[in-house]
This record gives sequence, C-alpha cells and structure tokens, in this order.
Amino acid sequence: MRNTIALHNGYLVPTLGLGTWNADKKFVADAIKHAILETGYRHIDCASIYGNEKEIGGALEAIVSAQKIKREDLFVTSKLWNTDHEPEQVERACKQTLADLALDYLDLYLVHWGIAFVSGKEAEPIRNGQVEMAAISIQQTWKAMESLVKKGLVKSIGVANFTTMMLVDLLTYARIKPVINQVELHPYNAQVNLVEFCRHYDISMTAYSPLGSPGLKQKGPVLLEDIDLKSIAKKHRRTVAQIVLRWALQRGTIPIPKSTNTGRLDENFDVFDFSLSESEMRLINGLDRGYRYVNPVKWWGIPYFD
Ligand code: A2P
Repeated sequence: MRNTIALHNGYLVPTLGLGTWNADKKFVADAIKHAILETGYRHIDCASIYGNEKEIGGALEAIVSAQKIKREDLFVTSKLWNTDHEPEQVERACKQTLADLALDYLDLYLVHWGIAFVSGKEAEPIRNGQVEMAAISIQQTWKAMESLVKKGLVKSIGVANFTTMMLVDLLTYARIKPVINQVELHPYNAQVNLVEFCRHYDISMTAYSPLGSPGLKQKGPVLLEDIDLKSIAKKHRRTVAQIVLRWALQRGTIPIPKSTNTGRLDENFDVFDFSLSESEMRLINGLDRGYRYVNPVKWWGIPYFD
C-alpha cells in the first residue's frame, strides 16, 4: 500500500482516511464508491453512533464483491459506543457493526470515548442536564476489546478521545497496547503534549475534525478562514484544506477529513505531491490555541477534557 505507516503491531494504515461522521445516509454510499474507486482512498473511518454503517456496508460490499478492490487492501475502522461498554455487550456491538458494514473483520476497533453510559433505549441518556454514567471501568471494557482480537473479529484495537492520563492508566494493565488514539487534531488544537506522549509509547494518532469541522457551523474561529493559512495556501496554489491536511501528515498524524462531495473528496486526497517547509510547519504550529470544535460538555454536561 502506498502512503501508509506501520502500527506498533505491524499492520499498515493508510496515512489519510475518509471520515464519515455526519455523512448523510443518502449520500454516503456514493461518496464511499467515489472515494475508493475514483480517488484512491483505502482507509474509511466509521462508528456505530454515526448511524450510517449500513449504507457504508452496502457500498463496501458492492466494491469488494465486484472484485474491484480486495478486502485486504482496505483499512476499515469502527468504534464501540458508550452504551456498549459492558464486557458482555462488546462482542455483540462489534458483530452488529460487522454485519452493518458487511465485513467479517475490522482492521481497527476503537473505544469511542473513555466513558460508559447506562444502556437502554437512548444513545445519550441525559437526566437533569447530565448524562447517566454506568459503573464500568475502562479496564473491564478493554479486556473485552482484547478478546475481539483473539477471536479474529478485529485486527487491531485502540481508543479515541483519550487524554494522557487515561492512557497512563490503560497502559498499566493493557495486555494489548492500543495501536491508535483518535482525537481532535488541527492547527487550532494541536495537542502537542499528547502527540508527543503517544509517539513515545508508539501509539499512532488519528486526527479527527482535521479541517475544523466547518459543517458544524458553530460560533468561534473558523480554521479554513485563517489568514496565515490562507497566505501559505496562496503560495503553494493549494486550498487551506490541503494545507492543514499536509500539516497533519507531516507531523506524523493520520487525518480523516469527512466529505460526501466528489470535488472535495478529490481535493482532500490531493496532498501527496507537495510539502510544507520547516518554517511553514513552525508557523502553523504557532496557531495552536487549544480550541475544540468537539466538546462533549455541551452534550453530556460532563467536562470530559477539563
Ligand atoms: P462536505 O461533506 O459537504 O464536503 P471535518 O472532517 O474537519 O469534520 O470537516 C468536514 C466538513 O468539512 C464537512 O462539512 C465537509 O462538507 C467539509 N469539507 C470537507 N472537505 C472540505 C474542503 N476541502 N473544503 C471545505 N470544506 C470541506
């Protein structure tokens, strides 16, 4: 595989993936087909909570069964939702995702957040402004994740939205070390210390919201409109999106920009034939302001990252 990096267990992951959070069910199958068959994406990032795994599975099945691309040439990730942390639920949730994605194994399965919710009808059980947590430790859930590897349901396991201290704890008992920590990473939230910590422990990092999630249309700074990024983009005759993706690649992270638009799918993948100079990298590093576009305190009433 071209443009890949090796995870600590030896498996290769393509360095740029396609995100599917907020990818509309109506458009996601066509986007996946275009991305894989026309553009060259080989890494697709999914999650059960995104509510579109069946549609993605339909596209993957069509591609693989038509023998256009071999299953082993794709790298597919999914994530265990917070209501499924109960050890007995982990395998069921994974098998449901496999059925939805029409796959018999995942390349990577992540614990989506290091927080367990009570299971029931709601994906986010909010009571009096606070999410209802379940008394399940990450240790219990991780053990069940490890058994998925032994059973051959997943090749690799990892985590998402883990802070340094959550990893410090996990590393004390993990028999299988997480291969990846997927977190929000972009020039306004560079998380230099977490990136350095993960590098030290050979945990690769996937960058979600690498474009600053412009689709969320929130108040606050708009990454793709940053003046310094615009001037670097102009110099390279590239778009700001391409500059921030290139920055993510050059710092060794794995960006997963989401798009269901064919032009933007192509644009985001067209970042392998230019590079940013050291001084441009430094300038972009200097834009960090610890700004999160994705902060669950707004949804769950829990200051998860504080
Ligand atoms: P669309 O799917 O219509 O292309 P992130 O991955 O940081 O969360 O960003 C995803 C959001 O950015 C989506 O709303 C997506 O919309 C939009 N987007 C994706 N690629 C680009 C691009 N190259 N330029 C501008 N917006 C983009």
